[in-house]
Amino acid sequence: MSGFGKKIILLILIVLVVLQLLPVDRANPEIVKGEDFIELNKTDEKVASIMRSACYDCHSHETVWPWYSYVAPVSWVVADHVEHGREELNFSTWKGYSSDKMDHKLEECIEALEEGWMPEEGYVSMHEEANLSEEQKELLIAYFSGLRAHL
Ligand code: HEC
Repeated sequence: MSGFGKKIILLILIVLVVLQLLPVDRANPEIVKGEDFIELNKTDEKVASIMRSACYDCHSHETVWPWYSYVAPVSWVVADHVEHGREELNFSTWKGYSSDKMDHKLEECIEALEEGWMPEEGYVSMHEEANLSEEQKELLIAYFSGLRAHL
Protein backbone atom coordinates (compact mmCIF):
# COMPACT_ATOMS: atom_id res chain seq x y z
CA MET A 1 0.00 0.00 0.00
CA SER A 2 1.24 3.51 -0.77
CA GLY A 3 2.17 5.86 2.04
CA PHE A 4 -0.85 7.93 1.06
CA GLY A 5 -3.22 4.94 1.46
CA LYS A 6 -1.82 4.19 4.89
CA LYS A 7 -2.32 7.80 5.95
CA ILE A 8 -5.96 7.69 4.85
CA ILE A 9 -6.58 4.50 6.85
CA LEU A 10 -4.87 5.97 9.90
CA LEU A 11 -6.98 9.10 9.58
CA ILE A 12 -10.19 7.05 9.38
CA LEU A 13 -9.14 5.08 12.48
CA ILE A 14 -8.43 8.28 14.39
CA VAL A 15 -11.81 9.72 13.42
CA LEU A 16 -13.56 6.50 14.54
CA VAL A 17 -11.79 6.60 17.90
CA VAL A 18 -12.63 10.27 18.42
CA LEU A 19 -16.31 9.59 17.58
CA GLN A 20 -16.44 7.12 20.48
CA LEU A 21 -15.70 9.99 22.88
CA LEU A 22 -18.87 11.92 22.03
CA PRO A 23 -21.55 11.40 24.68
CA VAL A 24 -24.62 9.30 23.83
CA ASP A 25 -27.68 9.36 26.06
CA ARG A 26 -28.44 5.76 26.99
CA ALA A 27 -30.26 6.62 30.20
CA ASN A 28 -33.26 4.56 31.25
CA PRO A 29 -35.48 6.98 33.18
CA GLU A 30 -36.95 5.71 36.42
CA ILE A 31 -39.79 3.19 36.24
CA VAL A 32 -42.60 4.58 38.35
CA LYS A 33 -44.64 1.87 40.00
CA GLY A 34 -48.26 1.81 38.90
CA GLU A 35 -47.67 3.69 35.64
CA ASP A 36 -46.56 0.88 33.35
CA PHE A 37 -48.92 -0.48 30.70
CA ILE A 38 -48.39 -4.17 31.52
CA GLU A 39 -48.69 -3.58 35.26
CA LEU A 40 -51.82 -1.41 34.95
CA ASN A 41 -53.64 -3.70 32.56
CA LYS A 42 -52.46 -6.90 34.28
CA THR A 43 -51.51 -8.04 30.80
CA ASP A 44 -51.20 -11.81 30.67
CA GLU A 45 -47.67 -13.19 30.46
CA LYS A 46 -47.92 -14.40 26.88
CA VAL A 47 -48.83 -10.96 25.49
CA ALA A 48 -46.53 -9.18 27.94
CA SER A 49 -43.52 -11.19 26.89
CA ILE A 50 -44.14 -10.44 23.20
CA MET A 51 -44.41 -6.73 24.00
CA ARG A 52 -41.26 -6.85 26.12
CA SER A 53 -39.23 -8.51 23.41
CA ALA A 54 -40.65 -6.59 20.42
CA CYS A 55 -41.70 -3.12 21.65
CA TYR A 56 -40.29 -2.28 25.07
CA ASP A 57 -36.72 -1.59 23.93
CA CYS A 58 -37.93 1.58 22.16
CA HIS A 59 -41.27 2.29 23.80
CA SER A 60 -40.48 2.08 27.53
CA HIS A 61 -37.92 2.96 30.17
CA GLU A 62 -36.79 -0.69 30.21
CA THR A 63 -34.52 -0.48 27.19
CA VAL A 64 -31.92 -3.22 26.98
CA TRP A 65 -29.01 -1.46 25.26
CA PRO A 66 -27.23 -3.90 22.90
CA TRP A 67 -23.44 -3.91 22.47
CA TYR A 68 -23.67 -1.98 19.19
CA SER A 69 -25.42 0.84 21.01
CA TYR A 70 -21.98 1.49 22.50
CA VAL A 71 -20.24 1.87 19.15
CA ALA A 72 -20.48 5.18 17.28
CA PRO A 73 -21.91 6.02 14.81
CA VAL A 74 -24.45 3.15 15.21
CA SER A 75 -25.00 4.22 18.83
CA TRP A 76 -26.41 7.56 17.64
CA VAL A 77 -28.97 5.83 15.45
CA VAL A 78 -30.06 3.48 18.26
CA ALA A 79 -30.32 6.29 20.83
CA ASP A 80 -32.28 8.38 18.33
CA HIS A 81 -34.81 5.58 17.75
CA VAL A 82 -35.28 5.06 21.47
CA GLU A 83 -35.72 8.79 22.07
CA HIS A 84 -38.32 9.17 19.31
CA GLY A 85 -39.96 5.86 20.14
CA ARG A 86 -40.51 6.95 23.74
CA GLU A 87 -41.74 10.36 22.61
CA GLU A 88 -44.44 8.84 20.41
CA LEU A 89 -45.45 5.97 22.67
CA ASN A 90 -44.16 5.21 26.15
CA PHE A 91 -45.59 2.15 27.87
CA SER A 92 -43.72 3.11 31.07
CA THR A 93 -45.78 6.30 31.43
CA TRP A 94 -49.07 4.83 30.20
CA LYS A 95 -51.01 5.97 33.26
CA GLY A 96 -50.39 9.60 32.34
CA TYR A 97 -52.23 9.23 29.02
CA SER A 98 -55.84 10.35 28.74
CA SER A 99 -58.37 7.69 27.66
CA ASP A 100 -58.53 9.39 24.27
CA LYS A 101 -54.79 9.21 23.89
CA MET A 102 -54.68 5.57 25.01
CA ASP A 103 -57.36 4.72 22.50
CA HIS A 104 -55.52 6.52 19.72
CA LYS A 105 -52.18 4.88 20.57
CA LEU A 106 -53.76 1.43 20.68
CA GLU A 107 -55.38 2.10 17.33
CA GLU A 108 -51.96 3.03 15.94
CA CYS A 109 -50.41 -0.11 17.46
CA ILE A 110 -52.99 -2.26 15.70
CA GLU A 111 -52.35 -0.44 12.44
CA ALA A 112 -48.59 -0.77 12.88
CA LEU A 113 -48.86 -4.53 13.36
CA GLU A 114 -51.36 -5.02 10.53
CA GLU A 115 -49.29 -2.96 8.11
CA GLY A 116 -46.00 -4.35 9.42
CA TRP A 117 -44.15 -1.06 10.12
CA MET A 118 -43.55 -1.98 13.76
CA PRO A 119 -41.34 -3.35 15.19
CA GLU A 120 -38.84 -1.55 12.97
CA GLU A 121 -37.18 -3.66 10.28
CA GLY A 122 -33.62 -2.86 11.32
CA TYR A 123 -34.42 -3.85 14.89
CA VAL A 124 -35.99 -7.13 13.83
CA SER A 125 -32.88 -8.03 11.83
CA MET A 126 -30.86 -7.81 15.07
CA HIS A 127 -33.52 -9.31 17.40
CA GLU A 128 -34.78 -12.72 16.31
CA GLU A 129 -37.46 -12.76 19.04
CA ALA A 130 -38.96 -9.54 17.62
CA ASN A 131 -39.62 -11.26 14.31
CA LEU A 132 -43.26 -11.86 15.19
CA SER A 133 -45.22 -14.76 13.73
CA GLU A 134 -48.71 -14.14 12.33
CA GLU A 135 -50.07 -15.80 15.45
CA GLN A 136 -48.14 -13.46 17.77
CA LYS A 137 -49.27 -10.40 15.78
CA GLU A 138 -52.88 -11.54 15.92
CA LEU A 139 -52.61 -12.11 19.65
CA LEU A 140 -51.37 -8.53 20.18
CA ILE A 141 -54.00 -7.09 17.82
CA ALA A 142 -56.81 -8.95 19.60
CA TYR A 143 -55.49 -7.84 22.97
CA PHE A 144 -55.18 -4.16 21.97
CA SER A 145 -58.67 -4.25 20.40
CA GLY A 146 -60.09 -5.73 23.61
CA LEU A 147 -58.57 -2.92 25.65
CA ARG A 148 -59.99 -0.31 23.29
CA ALA A 149 -63.47 -1.73 23.77
CA HIS A 150 -63.18 -0.97 27.51
CA LEU A 151 -61.85 2.58 27.28
C1 HEC B 1 -36.16 -0.08 17.27
C2 HEC B 1 -37.11 0.72 17.98
C3 HEC B 1 -38.56 0.40 17.95
C4 HEC B 1 -39.21 -0.79 18.23
C5 HEC B 1 -38.58 -2.09 18.62
C6 HEC B 1 -40.62 -0.52 18.10
N1 HEC B 1 -40.82 0.78 17.75
FE1 HEC B 1 -42.61 1.70 17.49
N2 HEC B 1 -41.66 3.47 16.99
C7 HEC B 1 -40.30 3.65 16.98
C8 HEC B 1 -40.00 5.01 16.59
C9 HEC B 1 -38.61 5.61 16.43
C10 HEC B 1 -41.24 5.64 16.35
C11 HEC B 1 -41.49 7.08 15.97
C12 HEC B 1 -41.13 7.40 14.59
C13 HEC B 1 -41.94 6.66 13.61
O1 HEC B 1 -43.18 6.81 13.62
O2 HEC B 1 -41.36 5.92 12.80
C14 HEC B 1 -42.27 4.63 16.61
C15 HEC B 1 -43.62 4.85 16.48
C16 HEC B 1 -44.59 3.93 16.83
C17 HEC B 1 -45.99 4.20 16.78
C18 HEC B 1 -46.64 5.48 16.31
C19 HEC B 1 -47.16 6.27 17.47
C20 HEC B 1 -47.92 7.49 17.00
O3 HEC B 1 -48.79 7.92 17.73
O4 HEC B 1 -47.64 7.97 15.89
C21 HEC B 1 -46.62 3.07 17.21
C22 HEC B 1 -48.11 2.85 17.36
C23 HEC B 1 -45.60 2.09 17.51
N3 HEC B 1 -44.37 2.64 17.28
C24 HEC B 1 -45.86 0.83 17.97
C25 HEC B 1 -44.91 -0.15 18.19
C26 HEC B 1 -45.21 -1.50 18.61
C27 HEC B 1 -46.60 -2.03 18.89
C28 HEC B 1 -44.03 -2.15 18.71
C29 HEC B 1 -43.82 -3.59 19.03
C30 HEC B 1 -44.59 -4.58 18.33
C31 HEC B 1 -42.97 -1.20 18.34
N4 HEC B 1 -43.56 0.00 18.04
C32 HEC B 1 -41.61 -1.47 18.31
C33 HEC B 1 -39.34 2.71 17.32
C34 HEC B 1 -39.59 1.38 17.64
